[in-house]
Amino acid sequence: MRVITYGTFDLFHEGHRRLLERAKALGDHLVVGVTTQNYDSTRGKLNVGQSLMERIKNVTDTGLVDEVIIEEYEGQKIHDIQRLGIDIFAIGSDWEGHFDYLKDYCEVVYLERTKGVSSTELRTQNHGILSIGVAGSGRIARRFVAEARYVSGVSVEAVWSPTAEHATAFAAELELARSYGTLEELLGSVDALYLATPHGTHYELVKQALAAGVHVLCEKPMTLTQAQTRELHELAGAAGVVLLEALKTGFAPGFQRLVAVARSGSIGDIRSVDATFTKLVSGGRELQAPEGGSISELASYPLLAAVKLFGAGHTALRTRSYWPQESPVEVFSQIDLDYPTGWAIARTGVGVKSEGDLVISGTEGYIYVPAPWWLTEYFETRFEDSRRNQKYFQKFEGDGLRYELAEFAGMIRDGSRTSFKYTAAESIEIAGIMEAARSQAEIFGRRGHVEVSSAG
Ligand code: CTP
Repeated sequence: MRVITYGTFDLFHEGHRRLLERAKALGDHLVVGVTTQNYDSTRGKLNVGQSLMERIKNVTDTGLVDEVIIEEYEGQKIHDIQRLGIDIFAIGSDWEGHFDYLKDYCEVVYLERTKGVSSTELRTQNHGILSIGVAGSGRIARRFVAEARYVSGVSVEAVWSPTAEHATAFAAELELARSYGTLEELLGSVDALYLATPHGTHYELVKQALAAGVHVLCEKPMTLTQAQTRELHELAGAAGVVLLEALKTGFAPGFQRLVAVARSGSIGDIRSVDATFTKLVSGGRELQAPEGGSISELASYPLLAAVKLFGAGHTALRTRSYWPQESPVEVFSQIDLDYPTGWAIARTGVGVKSEGDLVISGTEGYIYVPAPWWLTEYFETRFEDSRRNQKYFQKFEGDGLRYELAEFAGMIRDGSRTSFKYTAAESIEIAGIMEAARSQAEIFGRRGHVEVSSAG
């Protein structure tokens, strides 16, 4: 009888060993499918500690296993069972019922799970729970608390808001243990801060948190000038704490895959990147001077695509902004960036609507990412000969804030101070482009003719 089982097998423990023993005893040939990190992240398991090779070694070291395979995608189990001539599928009882659909292909056995041990618990024991405080009580802060439930090893425990009643109400609604009237108190009670206050307040608040030795995940844009963003990254480096700009697209599995596919030469050499993000708003902070406007609200996303694909070091920058007479801020902008080998266009709107897609043109083909490209879930490589076209799918779970939080928590845990997914250098580069774009924009719409912005 041929038996198969699957798992992550992170931080191998007694529960894993006993499961493999019993699975082995069901037959005479045991196949184990070990999940890739990529597959785990698409099913929401974000904090796996060991690499795939280490986890495979965990399994083979038991001496119980005849064959190891890698589980990479949903639906693979059916293929494996047919391909490998499997008679019995075995899995822990925490999955009771979940795999009954496999009964059409082989026998399905649920084995009693060993009580009191799990990889999740071991990860927590090894690293402790990271306690997080939230600064701000708006919409994004609320979404963050909800998303944090999907990241193991972290706990959002407290909130501070400049308006004390907001903090109390937020804590009550989202069942947080504590709310504070001053940031100082919050910083004294947590390991890390998620900063979701208006952008204009970030610079001072990040400084205060870093001085208190607290790690910071700061909503984008971190600041509106390159000098300030650079200074904050330098301060974090000197303090030995993590500072990450929460630009969620950068941490999404689909976007990382897109960047890798584009940069690996699949469409030849990249010559242009054209990215648009518009979100119509009818009032509120986004439309208020001096910090609002489409560039400060949204340009981080398209500029991330430009910077990830062309790197730093643009050779020229031109910005056009539509700024209606009665509006305190620009509401539609296009930033054109020249690079030595091509160009990028970043279009943003809070008062003009457009198609929110991303097109990367190359010498052999192009990549098309439909709206909303910043929640990257699907893209295509397209060629003159359409038979070469390929479609890529990568699930984007929930609001996507879980990915940036998992990265942030992982950096704190591993002691790494920069994330290759979105580096400090990239965050500083983007801040510089946004600052220049806001201060140099050619303005359309104010008095029906073009003028160069002095307001920024
Ligand atoms: N397993 C078990 N007893 C435990 C833990 C896991 O029998 N105490 C089984 C699971 O049911 C599964 C296999 O071991 O069949 C691999 O599970 P995996 O998800 O890798 O282990 P967990 O410890 O449950 O991992 P996590 O906490 O990350 O979910």
